[in-house]
Amino acid sequence: MKKILSVVGARPNFIKLASLQPFLEKSFDHVIIHTGQHYDYDLSGGFFAELAIPKPDYNLKVGSGERIQQIKKIRERCVKIIRKEKPVCVLIYGDTNSSLGGAEAAKAAKVPVAHIEAGVRSFDKSMPEELNRVAIDRISNILFCPTKASTENLKQEKITKNIFTVGDTMYDVFLKTKLDTQIIKKIGLKPKKYYFATIHRQANTNSSTRLKRLFLAFTKLKQIVVIPMHPRTKKALSKIKIDLANVYPIDPVTFKESITLQKNSLMVLTDSGGIQKEAYYSKVPCLTLRSNTEWPETVKSGWNTLVDTNVKKIVYFTQKFIRPQKHPPYFGEGNAAEKISRVLNQLYYGS
Ligand code: UD1
Repeated sequence: MKKILSVVGARPNFIKLASLQPFLEKSFDHVIIHTGQHYDYDLSGGFFAELAIPKPDYNLKVGSGERIQQIKKIRERCVKIIRKEKPVCVLIYGDTNSSLGGAEAAKAAKVPVAHIEAGVRSFDKSMPEELNRVAIDRISNILFCPTKASTENLKQEKITKNIFTVGDTMYDVFLKTKLDTQIIKKIGLKPKKYYFATIHRQANTNSSTRLKRLFLAFTKLKQIVVIPMHPRTKKALSKIKIDLANVYPIDPVTFKESITLQKNSLMVLTDSGGIQKEAYYSKVPCLTLRSNTEWPETVKSGWNTLVDTNVKKIVYFTQKFIRPQKHPPYFGEGNAAEKISRVLNQLYYGS
């Protein structure tokens, strides 16, 4: 069997890996590097257990840190392993610092890079993820795009070789996920009587003005706002005086719990990229707490609205949302991982 190597490090990487792992293990000797970017059980080990991903072969334990330093550490540690393992290809998932560190390491070791979730753009250069995405796509030799729009973005950047539009691997995982309504009961929620919110982007957590505006808006909503707390958001909130009336903070949730909470909510309010998509798959309206999105199709179809941290808009759209009639299948048919595996088999085994 030929060897293939995946580099992951943070929550969204693990979900994408979960979709591909069962296919990869059939045809490849699959080596997994966990960079250790996420290390808390809630953000890391819990996901491996829940999504049935095998224990990583390596954990680089890079931990948290400033972006450039973190990427450098990941690159230096990964390159040694890639040189030792000699895979035919390195798989990179999404746009985290771990993704870019892994891609740079593969390039340094002269091993081809396959990027899963290529071509996605918010066109906001202040986001670390946008810088990571653009850099990874420039390094990549094989590019797996989740949507037509992402394929088009690559064309605009004159990246034209080995591009495959396969659908979204996160949608594959979403379709296989069984709901866990225990979480609804545990919190004492009634379906469709609460909003589900997440905030973790640096742009929101590092600005007390923006963070205050968001929570002010939440206090004005007609139903309670359930919000799993990312460690960074928790830290930022502890430093400012804020009214949490109407807000129900909870510990970070599992993937299953997150999907269950979203599906049963009145509306999702988020600054996450992945959660905008999950709300769309769930046919639940979404308000994006940013001024841009990497998933323009969710906005174009009317299911997602960019409200940034505008208190009036947040309050208005939670009340006046008009449910669109159409829900186009922008994210594929739930077989993205199978398609990716077919391409890899063709490239590396000729069949
Ligand atoms: C990262 C990804 C982001 C993804 C998110 C999912 C980048 C640039 N961003 O952002 O795209 O949506 O993961 O959660 O890679 N921390 C802990 N425990 C942990 C990990 C982090 O407490 O296990 C705290 C640390 O204080 C750290 C902060 O959270 O400084 C941010 O973590 P980091 O991995 O840098 O970025 P995320 O915001 O999680």
